[in-house]
Parts: sequence; structure tokens; C-alpha cells
Amino acid sequence: MNFELTVLPLEDVAAEIKVIIIVDSNLKHRFVQDKKLLKKAGFSSGQDETCLLIEKNRLYVGATSLKGADIRRAAANAIKVLKGTKYKSLKVATYTNAGCTYTLRAMVEGFILGAYSFETYKSKKNENKIKHISISLEEYNELEIDIEKASLLVHKAQITADATNFTRDIVNTTPDDCYPDVMASIAEGMAEDTGLRCKILKPKQLRKEKMETLLAVARASRHKPRVIHLTHKPKGAKKVITLVGKGLTYDSGGLSLKPADYMVTMKSDKSGGSAVLGIMKAIAELNLPIEVHGFVGAVENMIGGDAYKPDDVLVAKNGKTIEIRNTDAEGRLVLADVLCYAQQEVKSDYLFDFATLTGASVVAVGHYTSSIMGNNKEVQDLVVKEAHNAGELATALDFNPYLKKTIKSEIADVCNISNTRYGGAITAGQFLSEFVDKKHAEKWAHIDIAGPAFVEHAWGENPFGASGAGVRMMVKLIENLAKDENHH
Ligand code: BES
Ligand code: ZN
Ligand code: ZN
Repeated sequence: MNFELTVLPLEDVAAEIKVIIIVDSNLKHRFVQDKKLLKKAGFSSGQDETCLLIEKNRLYVGATSLKGADIRRAAANAIKVLKGTKYKSLKVATYTNAGCTYTLRAMVEGFILGAYSFETYKSKKNENKIKHISISLEEYNELEIDIEKASLLVHKAQITADATNFTRDIVNTTPDDCYPDVMASIAEGMAEDTGLRCKILKPKQLRKEKMETLLAVARASRHKPRVIHLTHKPKGAKKVITLVGKGLTYDSGGLSLKPADYMVTMKSDKSGGSAVLGIMKAIAELNLPIEVHGFVGAVENMIGGDAYKPDDVLVAKNGKTIEIRNTDAEGRLVLADVLCYAQQEVKSDYLFDFATLTGASVVAVGHYTSSIMGNNKEVQDLVVKEAHNAGELATALDFNPYLKKTIKSEIADVCNISNTRYGGAITAGQFLSEFVDKKHAEKWAHIDIAGPAFVEHAWGENPFGASGAGVRMMVKLIENLAKDENHH
């Protein structure tokens, strides 16, 4: 899909179909040529409403407001409606807010995110046919738009949305086609394309690094584990950020086997690690002046004679002992070692981990929202804010000392599950905090993406299946940190 910005008025732009976004039910606006037809069709221009006037080659879509999130969804809806049609090009005006062109970015993201579909395993493909999108800088509110600024926004939108789709593809790929070594190859290939440094740790090095809890989780699988370390290191970078992702290419639950209904979709347990790969891709392509490290623990959690067991006590990389009472709480074990390794390798200003860590997070905040935890309220709030800026939903869940007591163990330093059935997202986060060292304690946030990472229906600009949760929020956060640096 390519985008072209033009200063020509929309009417003079050549394209097979025109898309008109009706903002705030403003059907009286001069852009609306088909008032009578729209009325006849019962189109009242609410968010997510669309009306395709096929004989006129015009498509109307509604948006509640000029907020990025609403425009993004409207653009995604437009492209979805056109999916079954033969149109190959479309044109659209610019919709902006008091001279600020940021909705342009949201619109472009919406087109690319909305056009996504995962068809690897379909014999008959039904891919998006729109190949060319012309955006006229003639503007809905008749404001002046700087073309250079606008093209930069389009460029950023393309990188961010393409990286999100890259993550979606990895997550949607089946467990027998995407196991740890495949994830490592994907990382290597992407690193080669984008100029990132990439180091892959195999079992021998993992043993040398004393990542015994990660190795224990991986033990019963025929697919050997990998730890991926990607580096973006521009000259003169003033800030360092570390990202860590849970990359369970399949989570059967291990000997604490998941019930059949709960095992389905567990190919998505690699969403955190896949998000880290997508974020690194975008950061490299945007060439942001921040040093960013991405670590992924790629492991498959299976059963077998060699499996780790409830009753085992494992020793994590930092020497802490962990009593295993449930082998399905495996993500925190993998992350424990990868967090320790990441902190050993890099001292950073921010440390973020991404994981489909708990079903409890989905119970607490629903399918569409990520839970943000940590020891520092400001860091938590920063993530929530940037998530919203980027069009993702996130909410802070606060730690408390009473829940912390529920992961105490009688026989080891800590237990891998809590002794209460409630507050499971938080107790999992508190377990991870045991593996964040003093230097990073106030710089860390844990992002549980179990809700939004994989949803079995389309929602907003997201398709059935993987959404690429975490990518947009983190790209935005790192971009804004880079901006702050430039101002100093
Ligand atoms: N990968 C799952 C969490 C999950 C559940 C992600 C549903 C996405 C959707 C994780 O490894 C897990 O199984 N967690 C257990 C923890 C429990 C044993 C303490 C859970 O949430 O039930
Ligand atoms: Zn599990
Ligand atoms: Zn898991």
C-alpha cells in the first residue's frame, strides 16, 4: 500500500473511490454531497458506521471526534468495507485539529492496520486490493498544512503500523511453524534488514549464564529454547531503554496441563516477545536517537518424561530459589531469568517487560486493555499515557504489601503461584519484581498484554487474532523520550 500526499483539491485527485469521514455527525458539512442518499440508507454517521455508495464511488464513514483513536478506527473501517470490492485506489481529505496534523498519522495507521488480514494458511486469499491512497492536503477545516511535516507523519505512521502487522504475523503463526529457533531466525532476518545487532543464545550459553529456570520450562519440548538480544545503538544516545518479552511459542500448561478449551489460542503466548521484535524493527527504521535493547525468552512449555514438575525448586539466574506449585505459571519463570540477564548486560533508564502473563489480567480489565504494574507510579502513568496517545488501552494496577505476602514459600525464597485465587495479575507482577535489581526497581514497568494481544473477534482497527498490542504504545513512548532529549 503506498501513500501520496497532494496539494491538489480532493476533486482534482484521480482515484477510483473517495472516502469521506463524517466527524461528530456533521452531515451538513460541505464535503457531504449525498445528504439525501445517506438519509435513505439510514446512515447517521456514528463511529463504526459506514455507507458505501457504489454507483457514486463514494464511501462515507463516521467518527465521533477528531481524536486520533476515532480517526484511526474510521480509516480502518473504510478499508475493511472496501475489502470485498474491486477498487485499487482511494482518495481522502485531511482531517485535523486546530492546525495540528497528528490525526493524519492516525488515519494512515488506520488504513494499514485495517487492511491487515492473516491468510498464510488459506488456499483462497482475500487480501486487501487497495494499493494506492492519495491524501489531499485540502483540509476539512480549511487549515494550512505543511507538506513536509505531513509527509514525515505519513512516514512514521507507515513504520509503526507495518511493525504492528509484523508482530501480528509472528503471533498468528502456528506453534509448529513458529518455535523458538524460528523466532530467533525471524529476529536475525529483521536485524539484517534494519541494521540492528542481533545475538542469539542457545542452550549451551543459557546454561553458562545460569538461566536454569528458563531451561527447566523448556526441558520437555523437542524445540530447544533461545534467548534473543537485539540492539539499536545510535551514536550519542542520551537514554538507554531495555525491553523484555515473554516468547512462549506454545503454552500447554506443562504437567499442570491446561483444560482443552483453555489451551486453544496459546500460540499467542509469544505475543510479548513478538511485540519486542516489532518495537525494535520500528525503532531501527525510525532511527530514534535512543539506545534500545530488546530481549526475548523464546521457549515452548510442554509435557513429557523430562518435564519440570510441581514440587520442584528451581534456582533463578540471580540465585533466588523458586518453589514450583504450578507449571502453567511458566511465563514468570522465563521472564525471571531473562530480566536478570538483561539487567546484567545493560544498565538502562527504563526497563519494560511485555507478557501475556495472566488470565487474571483479562478477568480484571477485559480483553482490550493492558495492565501496567511496577514500583513507580510515574513510570506506570507514563506507559498508560503513551498507550492512549498511540491508540492502545492500558490501565495501572497497583501493587500492595498484603498481596506480596501471598507468594511467600515455606521452603524456598518465593513461590511461583499465589496462595489466593484473587489478584493474580498483581501477584504475578510482584513475583517478577523479585528479579528486578535495586538499580532498576524504580525504572521498571511490567505490561501484561494477556487481554488485548489475541482476541477472537475484530475490534476497532484490530483484526481477529493477534493485535500487535504493545508495539504502538512503546514506539510512541520512545519517540517522545527522544523528543524530550532534543529539547534539552
Ligand atoms: N499464558 C498464560 C496466561 C494467559 C491466559 C494468557 C489467558 C492469555 C490468555 C499463563 O502462562 C498462565 O497460564 N497463567 C496462569 C497462572 C496461574 C497458574 C497462576 C493463569 O493465568 O491461569
Ligand atoms: Zn501458563
Ligand atoms: Zn503462558
